[in-house]
Amino acid sequence: MSETITVYAPATIANLGPGYDIIGMAVTGLGDRAEATLADGSGVTLDAITGDEGRLPLDPTLNTTTVGARRALEAIEAPAGLGVRLTLHKGLPLGSGLGSSAASAVVGAFAAATLAGRAEPRLNLLQACCDAEKVAAGVAHADNVGPSLLGGVVLIRRYNPVEVVQLPAPEELRLVIGMPAWSISTREAREVLPRKVPLSDAVANSGNVAAMIAGFFRGDLELIGRSMEDTIVEPVRAPLIPAFLKVKRAAIEAGALGCSISGAGPACFALAHDDATARRVAEVMERTWSAEGITSKAHIGRIDTQGARVMP
Ligand code: HSE
Repeated sequence: MSETITVYAPATIANLGPGYDIIGMAVTGLGDRAEATLADGSGVTLDAITGDEGRLPLDPTLNTTTVGARRALEAIEAPAGLGVRLTLHKGLPLGSGLGSSAASAVVGAFAAATLAGRAEPRLNLLQACCDAEKVAAGVAHADNVGPSLLGGVVLIRRYNPVEVVQLPAPEELRLVIGMPAWSISTREAREVLPRKVPLSDAVANSGNVAAMIAGFFRGDLELIGRSMEDTIVEPVRAPLIPAFLKVKRAAIEAGALGCSISGAGPACFALAHDDATARRVAEVMERTWSAEGITSKAHIGRIDTQGARVMP
């Protein structure tokens, strides 16, 4: 009987404030899993999906996990006839802003490449994962796919073909993710964005992105935090998220180094430099949403530096 492996891919915070579509980081403790078995001659098939409340397609041409597996096998030039059977276990809520479709694409691609014995170097799988994510999102979000596959903090220098730069990931940085019981379509959250932006906003965001990258290289958490200012995307998306500005204010008052929207939302993230502050920020996020009649859950994690991996 063929061996079954289980592959995990982490959730991601993309955009990191001013870095719209160009900077993302992987988060510990939240992610998707896939079980995969070699099945010679039968192509890539999806046996089942759990945790999606029946919302994701089982059709292998429409599911990011199976498309990810197929594209990965093409990218690594796996022998013809090599097949993979997959079962996807969704740990990430759909439409939450945590890179759910990217993580699903990554688990499929990484599982297939692992079974074919060619999962490393994993950079070879990046374009395949981006292509697969397009199936769900219409466009590739390399700022989600990159860190979910590679781990750590990833800068997207270019799309088509994708080119990434991996940044240092400060170990001490705590990530607090507030997840209100609400969902937003990424497509809609992209449609509200301006097609043109004032030069002064572009200048402000460029300064903040550049300073944030300097902060990652220096391990300067304060600099990373105060560079989390986004004058282009956050102000337009904020009204789509219930009580976002109140939650952000409360997080900063509780000691967060910075706070913004994760991906297209509605999840929000805050940065903290120690556990006690992270716990305080998590509490005030939940309390602020609760006062507005909105149920939410806060997760405290760190940067996941491993990315996709086979689980023991
Ligand atoms: N960078 C993308 C966006 C991420 O903000 O639309 C989507 O998860």
